[in-house]
Formats: sequence, structure tokens, C-alpha cells
Amino acid sequence: MPGDLFSPVTFGDISANSRIVMCPMTRRRADADGTPNDLMREYYRQRASAGLIVTESVHPSLIGKAYPGSPHLIDGRDLAAWARVVEAVHGRGGRIVLQLMHAGSLARPRVNGGRTPLAPSVPRAMTGGEIDATVEEFARGAAMALEAGFDGVEIHGGNSYLLHQFLGSGTNLRTDAHGGPAENRCLFPVRVVEAVAGEIGHGRVGLRLSPGFSADRTVRGDGLDVYSALLSHPSVRRLAYLHTSSSSDPDALAWIRSHWTGGWIHNLGTEPACSSPELLSRIEARLGAGPSAVSLGRLFISNPDLPERLLHRAPLAVPNPKTFYEGESEGYTDYEGWTDTSRQPIHT
Ligand SMILES: Cc1cc2nc3c(=O)[nH]c(=O)nc-3n(C[C@H](O)[C@H](O)[C@H](O)COP(=O)(O)O)c2cc1C
Repeated sequence: MPGDLFSPVTFGDISANSRIVMCPMTRRRADADGTPNDLMREYYRQRASAGLIVTESVHPSLIGKAYPGSPHLIDGRDLAAWARVVEAVHGRGGRIVLQLMHAGSLARPRVNGGRTPLAPSVPRAMTGGEIDATVEEFARGAAMALEAGFDGVEIHGGNSYLLHQFLGSGTNLRTDAHGGPAENRCLFPVRVVEAVAGEIGHGRVGLRLSPGFSADRTVRGDGLDVYSALLSHPSVRRLAYLHTSSSSDPDALAWIRSHWTGGWIHNLGTEPACSSPELLSRIEARLGAGPSAVSLGRLFISNPDLPERLLHRAPLAVPNPKTFYEGESEGYTDYEGWTDTSRQPIHT
């Protein structure tokens, strides 16, 4: 095990307490108007021992919303509610960044104010003015996140959402400066990066990408050409970190390994039923291959104190997928901490 897995690590101006990062995970428990609530505050508070928490996707604008129960960061009320979440995490010595997301064509009128979703091309190609306004919404969301006390912001550029839709030649059919060759398809994501960094500084901004991976096959044609162009851009190279998905295209990961010099968090992608020693050896192998940190998702759902469990080779609880989305505290804040129960393993 690399001796420094449990030691602090720095990504630009973001200092993480260890190299074990909690993945962004949509849990859909915000109030109906998108405001984060006390239940969410408790959920994140419980997980403050993660080296760094990346929040679930948060919307800087209503039109980009895809799911009921996803939280917003649009107005002062959202900001005040998020500030309480941050305070709870910081109060336990944790670190937390907010993931900003716009679902683009995957937004749903049922939850986005009844508007036709925006997209690079289909169903409704964004006008130049809409592109400018959307860039501005990301920047405003980032400024509000910093005002709420977050340690930084992660821009969601993967998983088939709006930025990813611009990168793919199958979803971006534009004939203007934002479409066509790989360099043009990067323009919108680069503009979002520059606007967000312009508000809060490059050192507080991360970018999530899932090269070649689109769970629902919405995005196609996002090959190495577009990622090498994006990740070679001077503004992108100055970011605090890049966060790649476990299902990323191996060629893109190989390119990143040899060309990316900044912070790199790689999502390990784990089978939820695994033991601490198995997980530790997988983390060790992965960190040896280049990334500065690994991120874990579902295991943080069922093991709020996952780093302590790994440190002590303690048993890991298995999450229940039926309670991943929506609902109340069941499957959300009722997973026990191993360290809260006098270090008695609660699952064997
Ligand atoms: C319930 C759930 C919600 C997710 N929501 C998000 C999200 O909001 N943003 C994001 O970038 N990825 C999201 N993901 C993907 C995770 O960040 C992570 O990449 C994935 O779970 C694989 O990691 P794991 O095997 O450790 O769980 C989600 C995954 C799950 C299981």
C-alpha cells in the first residue's frame, strides 16, 4: 500500500485529507424546489472523513434539470442551505467540492420548468445567446459555491450531459464555431472552464470526463481527438484536477497517463461486495498507474466512514440499490459507521 494513501494531497488550491475521494452521486433527496435540506446535510456530514467529497450533481439553472429531487444552486436560499452542508462537513475537518451539471438534451420538461431541453443540436440547438447565457450560469453557480464555503467546484463534462454532448460528433452537428472539428467541439466546454475559473480561480476547479463512455449511448463520436484537444488546451491544463470515470476508453486513459501533468482522480469502479484488503490492493495497483487519488462511489453510500474501515481492514457493508434514489433516511443516513460502534464490525 502506498504509505501516503491516507495522507493529505493537494489539487491546485484544494487540499484533500487523503487520496480516497467520494464520488459525486445523485441521491434525489432535495426539497421539491431543489433546496438542499437537513437530511442531505446529515448525509454529507457523516461522510466527512473522505479525503474529499464531491457532491451529487447540482444545477446552476432550472432548464438543465433532469431528475426530481436533484438540488439547485440558483438563488440565495440554495446558497444558504448549501452553506449549512459545507459547515457540517468542515466542522468535522472534511473537504467538499460541488459538482455543477447541466443535463442538456437529457433534461426533462416535467422538472425543468416545462421548457424544451437545450442541446448542441437535437432536440433544440442552442442559439449563440443561449450558449453565452449557459456559460454565465456555470460561472454564477461557481461563484455562489465559493460564497457558500465550498473548497472548489467540479464541472461535469461526462455521462452524456450537456458538455459531453458538445464533445461528441454524433450529438454536436453544429456548423458554427461550436461544432465540426474536434477543436470546435471543445469550445463550449473550454468556455465553461474559463468562465468558472475566471470567477473562482483555476486552482479551485476540477473537470469530470467519461471519455468514450455514455451509459445510455446518447453521446457518440467522442474519440481521442476531442479529448487530446480539450486536455491540451492551456486553460484546461491549469485546472486543479481531472476526474475520470472507471468506464473511460483505455486509449484516452493511456493518453492522459502520458500527457496530463495536473491532479488526476480516477474512479476505481468497484464491485460493492468486496473486502477491505481486496479493495486496498486494487487502489494500490491503480495509484501505481498514474492517478494522484482514487474515487469511490457506492461503497461510500453504505460505509460512511470508508477510509477508517480501509485503514483498519474492517469489513465493508454492501449498499442497497433500491434506496439509491429518492426516499427519506432509509439507505441514506441510516448506514452505521464502523467507528461509531466501538470498532465492532457491523457486517461480516
Ligand atoms: C446512485 C448513483 C448516482 C450517481 N450520480 C452521479 C452524479 O451525480 N454525477 C456523476 O458525475 N456521477 C454520478 N454517478 C457515477 C459515480 O460517480 C461513479 O462513477 C460510479 O458509481 C462508479 O463508481 P463505484 O463503482 O465506486 O460506485 C452516480 C452513481 C451512482 C451509483
